[in-house]
Amino acid sequence: MSEAKIITRLLSDTPDDLRQAADLLRAGELVGIPTETVYGLAADALNGQAVARIFAAKGRPQDNPLIVHIAAVEDWAPLVQAVPDEARRLAAAYWPGPLTMILRRSGRVPAAVSAGLDTVAVRMPSHPVAHALIRASGCPLAAPSANRSGSPSPTDAARVMEDMDGRIAAVVDGGPCRVGVESTVVDLTGCAAGGRPRLLRPGGVTATQLEAVVGPVEIDPAVTGRLAEGVAAASPGMKYKHYAPAARVVIVRGTPEDYAAFVNGRAGQGVAALCFEEDRGALRVPCVSYGRRDDPASQAHSLFEALRRLDEQGIRTAYAACPSAEGMGLAVYNRLLRAAGFEVIDVNGQTTGS
Ligand code: TXA
Ligand code: MG
Repeated sequence: MSEAKIITRLLSDTPDDLRQAADLLRAGELVGIPTETVYGLAADALNGQAVARIFAAKGRPQDNPLIVHIAAVEDWAPLVQAVPDEARRLAAAYWPGPLTMILRRSGRVPAAVSAGLDTVAVRMPSHPVAHALIRASGCPLAAPSANRSGSPSPTDAARVMEDMDGRIAAVVDGGPCRVGVESTVVDLTGCAAGGRPRLLRPGGVTATQLEAVVGPVEIDPAVTGRLAEGVAAASPGMKYKHYAPAARVVIVRGTPEDYAAFVNGRAGQGVAALCFEEDRGALRVPCVSYGRRDDPASQAHSLFEALRRLDEQGIRTAYAACPSAEGMGLAVYNRLLRAAGFEVIDVNGQTTGS
């Protein structure tokens, strides 16, 4: 039996269009929605069949759980079992915003959302359109990033269409995303027994910001490294090659001068630079820039779009200027490292990765 092709509607953020999007969500359909981090591929989180469609539309591995988006702190009550004090304090400080908390899940969360784990990821986004859609649909919304699995996350509606046209009911255009990389994921399930919060994925809320509210936070080794063979992933999403364009990306560590010399030494070999704005003048290869050198927020904002541009320009190998991994830079470094398949060249010495 051949499946009918879905016509994907592009909706705007007018009240009429938001009502249509909310109706679709209530009916178990998939809708691409803007959030302040990246666009999400949303479905009613309490409808197991709708959630299953998310995995099919993305080509997402079944063992990678989804984040449930809510519009008010009280909305977590039916989803979770025990809420440690640390979670309440983080919610008060950073919600609505780019922070996801892992908590023990209740029996109401369909197993598919949590990929069989006994926990659930919960986040309250700050984007007014996301907020309005959760309210209007009356459903908590399960939503992974709205890219085909493995590709860079989409930060505007046109990029969602590129990946999802014909696969989902609608995309709501809420303009470009402010943050540009996904939310910070912090696991609080150990706190009840006296354990520390654990950072599983860096994002728009930095480790220092978390520590200001809950004290010392452990950083999961997968944040800055490749998972060792045989080690279970605390956050299943961290084990996959991710955010990757078709182009080979190699991170080059060194001073701006080292970087320019390294890249220029390969001019004419079909390579390009994934550089900072300031590097452009010194480079003699095609450049795609991702923000300013000393401005991690600008890098986060541009990175995924820059990765997609590499492919549009048919670039086969891109040498990326290495970002600082401090503050918000940790989220940028974490994504770029995965886009590069962990391939890093240190101009003054060693090479790591594959
Ligand atoms: O900013 C964001 O978080 C975006 C927007 C749409 O909200 N969403 C997003 O979802 O990035 P996704 O599915 O692309 O990434 C969710 C990450 C994955 O690494 C997943 O493995 C992890 O969160 N995750 C989800 N539920 C989890 C759980 N119960 N335990 C551990 N990790 C979990
Ligand atoms: Mg994703």
